[in-house]
Amino acid sequence: MIMNKSQADNCMASPSYYFNEYFKGQQASDLQSCYSFYTHKLPCTHYITRACNLNTTNTSIPYTMEAIRNDFPILRQRVNGNPLIWFDNGATTQKPLSVINTLSQYYREYNSNVHRGAHTMAVLATKAYEEARNKVQLFLGASSTEEIIFVRGATEAINLVSQAYGGANIQEGDEILLTEMEHHSNIVPWQVLAKQKGARIKVIPMNDKGEIILEEYRRLLTLRTKLVGITHVSNVLGTINPVEEMTRMAHDYGACVLIDGAQAAPHFKVNVKQIDADFYVFSGHKAYAPTGIGVLYGKKAILEAMPPWQTGGGMIKDVSFEKTDYNSLPDKFEAGTGNIADAIGLGAAIDYMNKLGLDQIEQRERTLTQYAMERISCLPDTFVFGNAVDKTSVISFIMKGISPVSIAKYLDQKGIAIRAGHHCAQPALRHFGVDSTARVSLGLYNTKNEIDILVYNLISIHKNGV
Ligand SMILES: Cc1ncc(COP(=O)(O)O)c(C=O)c1O
Repeated sequence: MIMNKSQADNCMASPSYYFNEYFKGQQASDLQSCYSFYTHKLPCTHYITRACNLNTTNTSIPYTMEAIRNDFPILRQRVNGNPLIWFDNGATTQKPLSVINTLSQYYREYNSNVHRGAHTMAVLATKAYEEARNKVQLFLGASSTEEIIFVRGATEAINLVSQAYGGANIQEGDEILLTEMEHHSNIVPWQVLAKQKGARIKVIPMNDKGEIILEEYRRLLTLRTKLVGITHVSNVLGTINPVEEMTRMAHDYGACVLIDGAQAAPHFKVNVKQIDADFYVFSGHKAYAPTGIGVLYGKKAILEAMPPWQTGGGMIKDVSFEKTDYNSLPDKFEAGTGNIADAIGLGAAIDYMNKLGLDQIEQRERTLTQYAMERISCLPDTFVFGNAVDKTSVISFIMKGISPVSIAKYLDQKGIAIRAGHHCAQPALRHFGVDSTARVSLGLYNTKNEIDILVYNLISIHKNGV
């Protein structure tokens, strides 16, 4: 929905408590002129409404925003004298109390190593750790817990696949296809492998809206293609890629598909079986869980056929100085002591997202993305990158004459955390001829009021400089 003048006035006349608190001490007329200023620029609206493919009629969520925000203690912080507005969810999300309490309870009540102990604490810790794996299995729609490997994060998962799967299956002359919008984490490990093996990397191009060009992708696929790496959601453009279709196309050529779900898993329901992904990876910390824990999903048959990556304790059945028999899945890929507490914390984060409902989270965030896109795109001298028809949660932009870092620093003084830089996706930015953008990335606790405050400050930057 586009805010017209009378709606803007209405919004100014009845701001929520939060909005009120932020603007305490400001003249209403300032706000009025601010809104008039940008609503005046709305002619670009028609172009924005196409940008988000969503149904805006049902945006209800059974939990109030106030209740959700109360679950995140950090959101009560003031930063530089202002209430914290966390728009850096693409980098990492804040943690709900249930996750914080789960970690604290683990260390206070049943800290133990897992699997190898006969004592009560080991049994409790093992049970909680394996329950977390079970939650991840259901979260991703995987067939069994054997397909769920705990790793440090998306980066580690991709390194595991590139070295263990790639090391065994990719040979000289083979080709690896990666989209132009990959995060460096899904580029560099493949470059290393390609160099080791004499394989070639080919790039699946995107158009200027930030959408994969499927005809080009089709042209690139050959019997030499051994692996296709696709980000489910671009961390710089917010594009939701057609991973199901792309996977089907890759499989027609016998290629294996790895999907980087780092920016997808926190935002909508993922089903690895429906996608038919061979590998799917995500990081816990971007999904309301602690840092240092992430997931590699792999099809059981593929994981079983793969050699281990790291070796040592925990991943073995029997060791002699002559030879080692490896453990069965998933232990074969979890050498050494894992990140037990944070895996259990990931389970709590999944419980939290399930409680709110992934469908509702998706609906709210898409609505909020559209709301932000409408307003930021319409600001004068401001250019937004990424207008895919299917898009969520990320808005990257530049403002003429003002560096992204200066924008981020200005906003930080107002308590607003956004990211500025190349977002570890330099090839994607180069497509648009820039080396840096400001990036707003949304999470389940963000509100329209927060977007309004952001826009108000962006207008101020445009009018008065930084
Ligand atoms: C799309 C994407 N892939 C991979 C990563 C790497 O995630 P991590 O640093 O948690 O391993 C990120 C982080 O920003 C990302 O956005």
